[in-house]
Amino acid sequence: MSPESIQEQLTKYLTDAHSIEEQALAQMKVAPELSRDPEIAAAFTAHRAETEEHERLVRERLEARGAVPARVKDLVGALTGKGFVAFARSQPDTTGKLVAHAYSYEHMELAAYELLAQVAERAGDHETVTVAVGIAAQERAMADRLEGLFDRAVEASLQEVRREDIDEQLVKYLADAHAIETQALKLLERAPRLAEDSGLASAYQEHRSETEEHERVVTARLQGLGASPSRLKDAVLSLGALNWGAFFRAQPDTPAKLAAFVYAYEHLEIASYELLRRVAERAADGETALLASRIVSDERDAARRIHSLLDDALDASLSAQGLAA
Ligand SMILES: [Fe+2]
Ligand SMILES: [Fe+2]
Ligand SMILES: [Fe+2]
Repeated sequence: MSPESIQEQLTKYLTDAHSIEEQALAQMKVAPELSRDPEIAAAFTAHRAETEEHERLVRERLEARGAVPARVKDLVGALTGKGFVAFARSQPDTTGKLVAHAYSYEHMELAAYELLAQVAERAGDHETVTVAVGIAAQERAMADRLEGLFDRAVEASLQEVRREDIDEQLVKYLADAHAIETQALKLLERAPRLAEDSGLASAYQEHRSETEEHERVVTARLQGLGASPSRLKDAVLSLGALNWGAFFRAQPDTPAKLAAFVYAYEHLEIASYELLRRVAERAADGETALLASRIVSDERDAARRIHSLLDDALDASLSAQGLAA
């Protein structure tokens, strides 16, 4: 392995981590005021302070390595959070959307720091290893806090919904789940070809088959509830409006980024089905609640499997750069 290029790779991973933190910071600045629940708002406020610290620590590691943070382009207002605020305000279930989005984002950060720690280890940069391991623990803790706030997120989102409108709200959550599965299919159709590793390729391939099945049962349930086919299209648009700037800007151009991205996406699905199940219970729709808990366990299995393959994804990325593992 050429020593220069592993150093270059490490600087690249640090630069990516820095962009991810800048975008996290933009989101943490607006999230508390958009949350219609005091505990959820407090969790975001606390993590904002941690995120400021992460940004500083990563910047200092970059500077110590003689590099400067890249200017992050504010392509769609993601950085200022404007697009995100506009979208979130337009949603009656803002709090649920925020929590689901943040839950997924924290897992993207977690994967990014686990990869960073590995690359730093291989490059012999022990200070960066320490920083990455420390930040990863805080990202995981925030993700766990959010997991504990799903109940409150649903309470807050349904607070403004009249009793007789809860069925309509349930259809909305189902339509969102459908849109998320449709996006997942697009991602998983491409993923096996980009995996550069047979274990990952089959993980993506097998989850793609499960995803096809999820899409079918969600569609069938929507039809069972008498939702019009146009609801499916509406949800795709509403998902598109949610500002996934950070995600899609960090376009997976390496097997490692792809794995981190899919891992984060699985957590968007987990959060969506956790919320759906709670809304279904409130609407006394046992069939939908059962469907949601069955699918969420598939999503959790897929997330765990991809997580266990992160090191392989990194090996594949490094060898694609001519760096033997
Ligand atoms: Fe962070
Ligand atoms: Fe975070
Ligand atoms: Fe999935």
